[in-house]
This record gives sequence, C-alpha cells and structure tokens, in this order.
Amino acid sequence: MKSQDIRKKFLDFFESKGHLIVPSAPIVLKDDPTLMFNNSGMAQFKEYFLGNATPKSNRIADTQKCLRVSGKHNDLEDVGFDTYHHTMFEMLGNWSFGDYFKKEVIGWAYEYLVEVLKLDPKDLYVTVFEGSPEEGLARDDEAAGYWGQFFPEDHIINGNKHDNFWEMGDTGPCGPCSEIHIDSRSAEEKAAIPGRELVNKDHPQVIEIWNLVFMQYNRKADGTLEPLPAKVIDTGMGFERLVRTLQGKTSNYDTDVFQPIIKVIGDLSGKKYGDDEKTDVAMRVVADHIRTIAFSITDGQLPSNAKAGYVIRRILRRAVRYAYTFLGQKQAFMYKLVPVLIENMGGAYPELKAQQALIEKVMKEEEESFLRTLETGIRLLEKTMNETKAAGKTEISGVDAFTLYDTF
Ligand code: ALA
Repeated sequence: MKSQDIRKKFLDFFESKGHLIVPSAPIVLKDDPTLMFNNSGMAQFKEYFLGNATPKSNRIADTQKCLRVSGKHNDLEDVGFDTYHHTMFEMLGNWSFGDYFKKEVIGWAYEYLVEVLKLDPKDLYVTVFEGSPEEGLARDDEAAGYWGQFFPEDHIINGNKHDNFWEMGDTGPCGPCSEIHIDSRSAEEKAAIPGRELVNKDHPQVIEIWNLVFMQYNRKADGTLEPLPAKVIDTGMGFERLVRTLQGKTSNYDTDVFQPIIKVIGDLSGKKYGDDEKTDVAMRVVADHIRTIAFSITDGQLPSNAKAGYVIRRILRRAVRYAYTFLGQKQAFMYKLVPVLIENMGGAYPELKAQQALIEKVMKEEEESFLRTLETGIRLLEKTMNETKAAGKTEISGVDAFTLYDTF
C-alpha cells in the first residue's frame, strides 16, 4: 500500500466512527508560549482540553505535521543514526473531547490495526501505566482490562511514568497512556527472545507505533496535577513507522516516504544508499532535515539567529555539514530536493507547492552563507592545528576551540 493511501485509510476509518476530519495545524506555533513548534497532534486542541474553547465536534481526527527538536520532546541527535526517529514527522491521531474514553479507543485501535490493516496480533505488545506513588496515581487496571479482551497477559506490559504518563510539556494537559509496539524481527529472532523483553529497549525492530493517551489532568506550574474539566482521548500514531510496517521494511527510510528523496540525493551526489554507513547516515540526515526546513519555511518560520528561527537554522546547518563532509557537496544543493519533496507530499499538504519558490530561495541563500562560514572555519582549523603542532603542542587552546565552535 502506498503511503498516500495509508494516510487516507486512517482518516476514512475514523470518519466512519463519527469523527470530523480537520486539517493539520501549522508546524510553527505563534500563540503558545510553552512550545516553539507543534510537537504532537494534540497541541492545536489544547484549549479544548482545558475547557477554554469548544470544538466543532467532540470527535476529531487528522494527520498533524510535528517537529520534535526542542523542549521536552527532542529527537534531533538520534536522527540519521537510527532508522525510526525524525525531526519532522506526521502524527495520525483521533480525539474525543468528553465523549468516548478508554473502552472505545482501545477497541478501535485493535480493530484498525488487526482487522482493517491485518497486522498479526502476535506481533503487537501494549503497555499500561504501572502507577506512581509519588504522584498518588494507581496502576491503570481499567486499560489493562480492556486490552485483556484482545491480547493474552504476556502481551500486556506495565510501563513507568517516563513511558506511560504522557505530558505535552512542563505544564499543560497530561495523563496515563497505553502504547502499542510492534515486533518486526524475523521468526528466528522472535523464537530466541520474546518481543515483550524488547519493548521500550531501543531495539530498532521493536518499536512503538501508536500512543493512546487518556488525558485526565493539567500539570500546573508548581508541579501539581489538577483534574481536567472533561476526560479527553488523545492518540498519536507515527505515520512513517506505520508505513514502514505495512510496506514490510525494516527502516522508515526504505519506504516511499523517503526513498524518492534519497534517490535524488544519490543522483546529485553520485553516492548510492546502502553502500557505506557514513554516507547512509548523511543521506538520512539530509532526507529528514529537508522536510523540517521546507515545512517550517512554508508555515512562516524562516531560519534566523534567535529562538525558533535559530533552531531551524541549526537543523539546516546540521544537514549542510553532513552533506559537505560525507556527500562531497561544496555548493548549495539541498534546495534542489524541494521539487521531489513537493511531488510526494504536495498532495496532502498543498501549502508546500504554494510556497515552493520561497522555500528554494531561502534554503539556497542559507546554504550558501553557511558554506562560506564553513570553508573559512575549516581553513582556520587547519591553520590552528598546524601552528599548534609547530609549537610542539598537542592541544589547541580553549579560546581557539570556542571561536571555531561559536563563530565558524
Ligand atoms: N500526544 C500523544 C503523543 O504525542 C498522543 O504521543
């Protein structure tokens, strides 16, 4: 199944369950001082959770452009090295605002994954919140009971506050959650070690795909939990991970979400994905970061030297560094990937197409300006190293190290 069909199928399923389908909110947040970027599907609905505004429908579903590069949820340093974290990703989600709760959402999650998508329930593991004495919260026996209608005991796993109590940020809506993990290892590997032992252990083939949050509290600035006016369901499924599962791949980058971009990176750099681990990491970094930069510019956040703009600038520079060092790109080249990105994502996100000229122009200028800095920095580093060696030393000075790091 193509990724574009997978996205649609999710929305169709929840529409058939009475949900209103709404567009993604912009990836850049301008009116929430607690967040720079949209880090989850629920961010645009926060005021409904808190009872400060009323939604058009008490059942909503969508696919949200998310960015996890700052604050509580930050995956940046993993990106490129593993095969399942991204800076920008899409989150498929469904919400209930004071309408259905645990029983229905657990039943539908099972129905969707097993009956509609035909995933093998033997490969699925679910986690439930084990409770937290210091917060005065008990184990989520209710969720465990509903899961027990579908899964044997050894597929239901207790999880701690870190994994099974979801919080939007340091303050704001939060609650216990149940995650659904999938084991995509080979039959031999599964026979040797049961999947349940690898859940939440950073195994690249045993990964979380869907998080069902049972929002019940608002975390206040003093750390206390206050009950929300109504119970809310907030779910988030990693679109790229679901696509990888359904396309039978072991890496998100091997799916049709990323392969067209990686192909063009290969054509432009004369490298082949899969030939060498270092160039593969660089290709993954570039394929990931181009999406973040393009979507941020589209939604109004240009690279700059402060706050959210600086986060975007640093991501662009991270990609340029990898492309420069491992893909031999001494000239601006990322902007040349914008057409293939739009070809693949412009259908779901027409705003990309509308902003194509701006994205390309901003990226090219940023790349060129950073490449000039980088060239100067590399020359300075070489000069500093030579002078250090000539003086019979083996360490450059702290002052020089700082100048290289900070300015160049
Ligand atoms: N808000 C939940 C998450 O981002 C669904 O995991």
